[in-house]
Amino acid sequence: MTDVSLGMPQLPAPDFPAEVRARLQKDAEEVIARYPDSRSALLPLLHLVQSEEGHVSRTGIRFCAEVLDLTTAEVSAVATFYTMYRRKPSGDYQVGVCTNTLCAVMGGDAIFEALQEHLRVGNNETTEDGKVTLEHIECNAACDFAPVVMVNWEFFDNQTVESAKQLVDELRAGRSVEPTRGAPLCTYKETARILAGFPDPRPGAVEASGGAGPASLVGLRLAKGETAPAKVVPPRGETDPAGGDEQTSASEPQQSAGPATEDGER
Ligand code: FES
Repeated sequence: MTDVSLGMPQLPAPDFPAEVRARLQKDAEEVIARYPDSRSALLPLLHLVQSEEGHVSRTGIRFCAEVLDLTTAEVSAVATFYTMYRRKPSGDYQVGVCTNTLCAVMGGDAIFEALQEHLRVGNNETTEDGKVTLEHIECNAACDFAPVVMVNWEFFDNQTVESAKQLVDELRAGRSVEPTRGAPLCTYKETARILAGFPDPRPGAVEASGGAGPASLVGLRLAKGETAPAKVVPPRGETDPAGGDEQTSASEPQQSAGPATEDGER
């Protein structure tokens, strides 16, 4: 068998260095203790090994298999199924451009094409400086902020070709960038550790993660104040007895639902 990332034969996969192994073992035991069945800890443990190496290597798969008493084939099957696990060394910043339907028509396709040219990489490839990995991503339920770019799973809303280019330039230059909402940005490895279930140690980061963006809250207000439409839309081919052909717009609140709080409650 050949390790694709290193181009050399490796069977079985090498273990982590003893110091790393001991540290990960301690963390893994903490994660496993949260579940009644240890194999349920596989997803967070894959994030844990990803936080060590920046991707899920064969060594990481071996580690997960050993601590969970699974086969490496079972762990590999899971690691290769979910796109949040990277299988090769990648950049500090995973820049995902949503190219699902709504974002695509709102500019996501143009942004992705422009970034490929700007960074001189293709899908799932990393810039020469090791800073940025570019990828298509699927809908992240942020359609009300389309087109959306995500960096290490933090939201950068309402992007344009120019703002996206500037974003990756800032990342490559090591300058600080602020997500549109949510927690401050951190590196991919740091993000992976948080996804493994360990607390975000940065002051204020947890508090910043809560709440919804303004566009989502508009939708929430409309939903909570939902009433019968002011006009009944006539069946196709029939005329509106009240006259006129304008339909009630979903963007026009018909009654005030009162202000929503930050977490969307009233
Ligand atoms: S289509 Fe892009 S976030 Fe939903």
